[in-house]
Amino acid sequence: MDKIARSVNSLYERYPYPSLPIRNERDLISKLHANVMSKILATTGLEPASLSGKEVLDAGCGTGEKSCYFSYYGASVTALDLCSASLVKGEKLAEKFELQAEFIQCDIANFETDKMFDHIFCLGVLHHTSDPYMRFRALANLCKPGGTVTVGLYNRYGRLAHRARRMWIRFNAGENIERRMSYVENSIYRRKLKNGHEQAYAADKYVNPYESYHTVGEVLDWFNKNDITYVGSYPHAGKGKFHSFLSQLKWLIKRNGFFIMSGRKN
Ligand SMILES: C[S@@+](CC[C@H](N)C(=O)[O-])C[C@H]1O[C@@H](n2cnc3c(N)ncnc32)[C@H](O)[C@@H]1O
Repeated sequence: MDKIARSVNSLYERYPYPSLPIRNERDLISKLHANVMSKILATTGLEPASLSGKEVLDAGCGTGEKSCYFSYYGASVTALDLCSASLVKGEKLAEKFELQAEFIQCDIANFETDKMFDHIFCLGVLHHTSDPYMRFRALANLCKPGGTVTVGLYNRYGRLAHRARRMWIRFNAGENIERRMSYVENSIYRRKLKNGHEQAYAADKYVNPYESYHTVGEVLDWFNKNDITYVGSYPHAGKGKFHSFLSQLKWLIKRNGFFIMSGRKN
């Protein structure tokens, strides 16, 4: 593990993410997930039913909640992550719903397999790594022709205000994860964090030791370099440099800090 991976991993080992309270099948597919998953899948032009029989890679799967969603709809899922605590939760969740998913502990940069995938998802991960493009390229190389690659990243414009907040937290609480968590509890929430779900959310959002920021243009450039044709995004981003810049200015105002982009491998 490089230095960034080690520090990021220390956060997720303590606060595995996400930690939604998934008690029953309805929670897994509908109550908590339908909204976000339909937005993610819409960027690829997919519906849940079209996942059936497909090879799906969930790179940086965290606690495997999305991996289990893909598996529920019949995909054959490979889920990888650096964090052992998250993977244990993922395995337990898959077991609970009798779903098939292979959970593997490794850095995306070191993942080796003979498989090629129909759909690759890497959501909220690359911006916590030392070299997002190098890892993106590694994933793009694992995508079948005609398959899709979906990435979710922090936006350079939409996350600007949040970035200032993170700097303020660091200024007041330093580098220590627990000190930062209690600063967030006392100064942002102004109450005790209620449960594991809220703690994981707060840790991921405010306490992460490392994050980088990206633009629509940059991801389009990654797609171009890897023979991937842009399919869709969430939130919607205008086509071309000028229009995508305008979209991102809107994200700045609306504080849309996270964006998802999908492309199809030629
Ligand atoms: C914000 S969580 C996202 C989890 C999941 N993708 C989701 O959307 O629910 C980021 C995850 O990326 C993982 N991660 C960070 N760097 C990684 C790397 N280099 N290789 C594999 N996983 C990594 C972390 O351990 C963490 O579980």
